[in-house]
Amino acid sequence: MNEAPAALSVRNLSVHYGGVYAVRDISFDVAAGEAVGVIGANGAGKTSTLKALLGLVPRTVGGLRFGDTDLAKVKAHDMVRHGIGYVPEGRHVFVGLSVEKNLLLGAYCRPWNKATRSRLDEAYDLFPMLRDMRGRLAGALSGGQQQMLAIGRALMSRPRLLLLDEPSMGLSPKLVEDILAVLQRLHREGLSTVLVEQNAKLTFEAASQCLVVENGAVALSGTSQELQHDPRVRKIYLGL
Ligand SMILES: Nc1ncnc2c1ncn2[C@@H]1O[C@H](COP(=O)(O)OP(=O)(O)O)[C@@H](O)[C@H]1O
Ligand SMILES: [Mg+2]
Repeated sequence: MNEAPAALSVRNLSVHYGGVYAVRDISFDVAAGEAVGVIGANGAGKTSTLKALLGLVPRTVGGLRFGDTDLAKVKAHDMVRHGIGYVPEGRHVFVGLSVEKNLLLGAYCRPWNKATRSRLDEAYDLFPMLRDMRGRLAGALSGGQQQMLAIGRALMSRPRLLLLDEPSMGLSPKLVEDILAVLQRLHREGLSTVLVEQNAKLTFEAASQCLVVENGAVALSGTSQELQHDPRVRKIYLGL
């Protein structure tokens, strides 16, 4: 497996469910080590976009490359082996398993060795609260703790690109700040990310480039700096 940073290139990605388009002709790039945000209201097509990248929903795509790999040819269950990590909307932790077992499941495609052990230590360093709760059932964790666990689990496979679907959903402002701090640390460590969010404020702080998606299509795109000064973005997405 190639561990070098890689760029993602998405061209003309579309998703339709039974003839109704949920995503139409979305194109974007994520440079190696870059954080890209996708902002959109409920139903805009954010989750469908991420699932389409992963091959989890029927899609058409003109080009989908990650480094040297043609991801359009990679099956959903092999994405993790190609360095793509996924934190799904709603966390989907295994509620009947311990925190530590949830984390270890994130490394299922890697042999149990010193490297995996150190990955577990890194996850606990990133989320010290998970270390304290390692034996606790995931179902007993708060929503914010489960979100941290879902991120920690995705990191266990050592992804080079992390896709996050609304990690701030349902969390208190304090926990949203904690998520932002984690995303900023991962960015400093060189991880490429695609962050899909309704929370535009968080996204502008976490990502350098953003797309605004409306009705499944890109309505606006630019740097976070540019977009947060756009009058429409300020009114509709920042409530200013
Ligand atoms: N499995 C599905 N079957 C049919 N329509 C769907 C399905 N999943 C999502 N949709 C529709 O596709 C559109 C985009 O949904 P989604 O990608 O979940 O948006 P978001 O994540 O931005 O809220 C919505 O109109 C939604 O109702
Ligand atoms: Mg969604």
